[in-house]
Amino acid sequence: MSSASPSPLPRTVEILGRQYPTDDITNIPPSIISKIPLRLHTKPHHPLSTLRSLIESAYPDFAHLSSLSPLVTPFKNFDELSFPLDHPGRSVTDSYYINKDLMLRTHTSTHEVETFRKGDMKWLLTADVYRRDEIDGSHYPVFHQVEGAKIFTADANGLKEVEEDNVRLERLLAKENIVIEDVPNVSKTNPVQEGHDPVFAEAVARNLKLSLNHLILRVFGRGGAGVGKEEPLRVRWIEAYFPFTSPSFEVEVFFQGKWLEILGSGVVRQATLDTAGVQNKIGWAFGLGLERIAMVLFSIPDIRLFWSTDERFLSQFEQGKITTFKPYSKYPSCFKDVSFWLPRGVSLHDNDFCDVVRDVAGDLVEDVKKIDHFVHPKTNRMSNCFRINYRSMDRSLSNEEVNDIQDSVVSRLKEQFAVEVR
Ligand code: PHE
Repeated sequence: MSSASPSPLPRTVEILGRQYPTDDITNIPPSIISKIPLRLHTKPHHPLSTLRSLIESAYPDFAHLSSLSPLVTPFKNFDELSFPLDHPGRSVTDSYYINKDLMLRTHTSTHEVETFRKGDMKWLLTADVYRRDEIDGSHYPVFHQVEGAKIFTADANGLKEVEEDNVRLERLLAKENIVIEDVPNVSKTNPVQEGHDPVFAEAVARNLKLSLNHLILRVFGRGGAGVGKEEPLRVRWIEAYFPFTSPSFEVEVFFQGKWLEILGSGVVRQATLDTAGVQNKIGWAFGLGLERIAMVLFSIPDIRLFWSTDERFLSQFEQGKITTFKPYSKYPSCFKDVSFWLPRGVSLHDNDFCDVVRDVAGDLVEDVKKIDHFVHPKTNRMSNCFRINYRSMDRSLSNEEVNDIQDSVVSRLKEQFAVEVR
């Protein structure tokens, strides 16, 4: 938790037309609130929407959901999914809180319990998710995820169904130009859950991997990005850990000379299904980030471009088509440094600094770097120096304009964190 004392907050904040009370952990800035209604994943022609449709087309018989509210309780975002109480994601430096009882979801897994509770056995869910983060070309505090899940009845018929599906998927995969580096479906370090039949759990883990290998072929292979015509498509599975799955896996895809981590997945923790009131079922889930994949598929060099309203960006894309982004001229950068002393005993998290910058300057900031920090040996006060790179995606910024923005950043820092500018 930040120990800095924020300036007085409004008593309520308005989100999607409703007022919510604030409290002493409220940290959601107006720049983030303004992103909530945009829902880029449903905007026709937008690359994120095309990628969502492409993923949905790999699961034609699944329910496709995309309109759940991003406002959730911390209980739903974390506790229901077995996150430990001391998990760093819960802290106000990592997540956006409207107040202590309401936050912006940090991942689509938040909706697993309610979706299973509704009775959906196989579903995909696409949504905007929010994490406080640094500012650079590949990090943005709002991004989009697709969650997918499938559950089977945990009896002999259910096992037969999974095993038959595995045989079918394996046969189809054998015809494809794909090379898969695998890890065991279960292992000592990636165990079957207590209470799961090991044979069934292993068949489910296998089904998860097969199903996702097919999804990856759909997105990166023929019909998608087109890998696999000459060189094989390379995929590698890695053991992972998530509080709400076991065994758990991450997947990387080799694309344009680099391994790209694209998703997290695993066999759903039985506690999740128990909480959802779903009995006698076992299944898998995965969660995948859209921006990172869309950036490589469409050659989009900066994550902020997804938010651009510039016609030179938007008019380049057609719904359902993967095309290569043609950069239009980049406008010049303007660097400004700010150095300041923090009051004794006050610490300022880098994410707090970035939020102030983002709040004042919005998307005019390309990145922020901390270039120096030290503690004064006598006064014990901490000095920080940040370098802000201002650059608009849409126009040339004048030096006066940037100076004005920089002045506002500085006054906000003084107001909110009582810093003394050096
Ligand atoms: N929610 C996880 C994340 O955001 C991804 C995940 C989803 C992992 C489902 C396992 C199962 O990183």
